[in-house]
Amino acid sequence: MIPSDIRSQFPILDTQVHGRPLVYLDNAATTQKPLRVIEALDGYYRHLNSNIHRGAHHLATMATERYEQVRCQVQQLIHARYSHEIVFTRGTTESINLVASSFAKRYFVGNDEVIVSGMEHHSDIVPWQLAGAVLRPIPFSDEGVLDLEVYDRLFTKNTRIVAVNHVSNTLGSVNPIADIIRIAHSHGVPVLIDGAQAISHLSVDVQALGCDFYCFSGHKMYGPMGVGVMYGREEILNELPPYQGGGEMIETVTFDCTTYNQLPFKFEAGTPSVGDVIGLGEAISFMQETGIDNIAAHEDQLLRYATERILQIHGIRIFGTGPHKTSVLSFLIGDVHPYDVGTLLDQLGVAVRTGHHCTQPIMDRYGIPGTVRASFAVYNTRDEVDALMNALERIIPMLQ
Ligand code: ALA
Repeated sequence: MIPSDIRSQFPILDTQVHGRPLVYLDNAATTQKPLRVIEALDGYYRHLNSNIHRGAHHLATMATERYEQVRCQVQQLIHARYSHEIVFTRGTTESINLVASSFAKRYFVGNDEVIVSGMEHHSDIVPWQLAGAVLRPIPFSDEGVLDLEVYDRLFTKNTRIVAVNHVSNTLGSVNPIADIIRIAHSHGVPVLIDGAQAISHLSVDVQALGCDFYCFSGHKMYGPMGVGVMYGREEILNELPPYQGGGEMIETVTFDCTTYNQLPFKFEAGTPSVGDVIGLGEAISFMQETGIDNIAAHEDQLLRYATERILQIHGIRIFGTGPHKTSVLSFLIGDVHPYDVGTLLDQLGVAVRTGHHCTQPIMDRYGIPGTVRASFAVYNTRDEVDALMNALERIIPMLQ
């Protein structure tokens, strides 16, 4: 059960937009933050602000302790074996860029191929292209389900890594990552999972999954912007060179030669966003106290209800109709441009995202310019789904 006072924990939900109560359905872009996260950030800058790991004074010691506690919280959240397998980054994009860059330096030899899914976010496409790889996309059905038989045939002697999202930010498809990892490992190929859209909706166990890398952002899980996580298996992280140089990532430096720090510091160059990491810790506590299974069940009910209701609208097309979905409802109404729908919904206080959602290959696959996307979080209600549907019924006659 979701606590009945959940909404009161999110101050921004009281906002009025164009004179109407905000109905915030853009959670796949970023979730709102509970008061405890906002207070953790405020508390850090009021009482704890200092640079970590190197100060010999009280504040630095306290901030370092709290920062390292959050690393252990993340370890526990995703069931990693060691806390030093958790690297803090600025977000999923930086996490994937880190892996792509360091992995390519270590393992690319020429003619390198990376298998991605056809429904990847640009953040899991472009870093591999920058690293010099040729991409081999796994196709997906009209419903938004990956074709694992074709996937199995994409492996060649040049396949270096598989990089796939756990949940599609555009279609809401929950991808069969356990099978994807098993098949990749049977070919001797490691796997990176982009968990940005999964981490606030599903329980994740990186050891049970056997994945080699799992990346996500704080801001999509009720935490601050500017902080993310790159989980990597110890054995593979030990093999990779650092991503950036400077600060905490060194062991010794001379003008001739530098040696590197141990994990996880080897990958954390420069002053990290300490306050944001502490805010992330508070967000994890919020999710765990609310119960990730409770959150998932609540969002599932909202998604089912919203799907049932929207299907009653004439000319509706839903993108992502597979059997395993979470929290995302992407749609078009007739041939109305998604931007027009989004702009009019905003006038009625309803916040959705429109466009290609950083997944242009998905739009090409369906031959559409973009979609309207409503996405749900723990604090959304059936009344808000009704508000979206009523708003759609009101604006459609204006658009056709
Ligand atoms: N990747 C984010 C989204 O899907 C920004 O909206």
